[in-house]
Amino acid sequence: MSSDAKEAVAAITAAKNPRELEQLRVRYLGRNGSVTRELRRVGDLPPDKRAAAGAAANQIRKQVESALTQAEKKLQQQQYEGETASITLDVTAPVDTPDAFGHAHPVMSLIDDVVRIFWQMGFSVIDGPEIETEWYNFEALNIPADHPARDMQDTFYLEGGNLPRTHTSNLQVRYMEKHQPPIRIVTPGKVYRNEDEDQRHSWQFYQLEGLVVDKGITLADLKGTLLAMMKGLLGEDTQIKLLPNYFPYTEPSVELHATCVICGGKGCKMCSHTGWLELGGAGMVHPQVLRNGGIDPEVYSGFAFGFGPERIAAIKHGVPDVREFWRPNLNFLEQFE
Ligand code: DAH
Repeated sequence: MSSDAKEAVAAITAAKNPRELEQLRVRYLGRNGSVTRELRRVGDLPPDKRAAAGAAANQIRKQVESALTQAEKKLQQQQYEGETASITLDVTAPVDTPDAFGHAHPVMSLIDDVVRIFWQMGFSVIDGPEIETEWYNFEALNIPADHPARDMQDTFYLEGGNLPRTHTSNLQVRYMEKHQPPIRIVTPGKVYRNEDEDQRHSWQFYQLEGLVVDKGITLADLKGTLLAMMKGLLGEDTQIKLLPNYFPYTEPSVELHATCVICGGKGCKMCSHTGWLELGGAGMVHPQVLRNGGIDPEVYSGFAFGFGPERIAAIKHGVPDVREFWRPNLNFLEQFE
């Protein structure tokens, strides 16, 4: 190390605080600093001297820079140690707890429960767009414009032809297009319908959709999956049955019934004295829907299902009107803490 560099490094190492260090940085590396001036002077030397002088000056600059970095680290460390040394930690001191904690909304916590059950069975949780094209919401699911099944879901249409999705089934073909089997997904999300509100309906609500596609998937897999979900949600004693129904995107189509959580299947007001509650739709994915998603129905089969978490939360908590969930009524919501 040249004597210039030695002197600079010694001064930097001896700096006692960040301010002194900054002064030294300016003294050596500032615009008029001695190292900077030395570097600048290289240009004025005769060409045959420049290379050697340039290398030497650069060497000094590097040494000074590295000394500055190290000194800065050392000072920071000293400062940290000084600050922390003065802090005493009393782990027995009483904690200041807030008077009120928030908690999960009952519908969200039901969705969390469903998602956890499926996650344990190896499903992925997928999100999708709420503003959808007619293709993914309807046509790709075998529901052309003139199909009577369009009446099952009153639709808000947007200018330009898109729509707020009427069901989470919009994700089925979207997902298949991008993923080859094995597919195992659930997709919770909001859906919208141009409906009059009543105790069981509102114009905006949640749905949770499931889709499984693989080789050799059968209705028995669907039934086993739905049973596991219902037992997880409503209790181990829960039984289910699947009744024939019609959805254009499944064949065969079923509706899911589970034993009433309120009376355990004996019959009560909640289940209209049948002992059973209708909770959702499901079925084996229609071959044309698989094809629309780019999947060969000769090789693969699948099942799908969809249901409304509000309704299940309402049943579970004995809430007679689903609209209650979304009113800004803290007295109501605080019951579910
Ligand atoms: N999309 C239906 C609805 O909104 C629910 C549904 C039925 C979803 C059958 C499915 C299914 O995936 O296979 O009422």
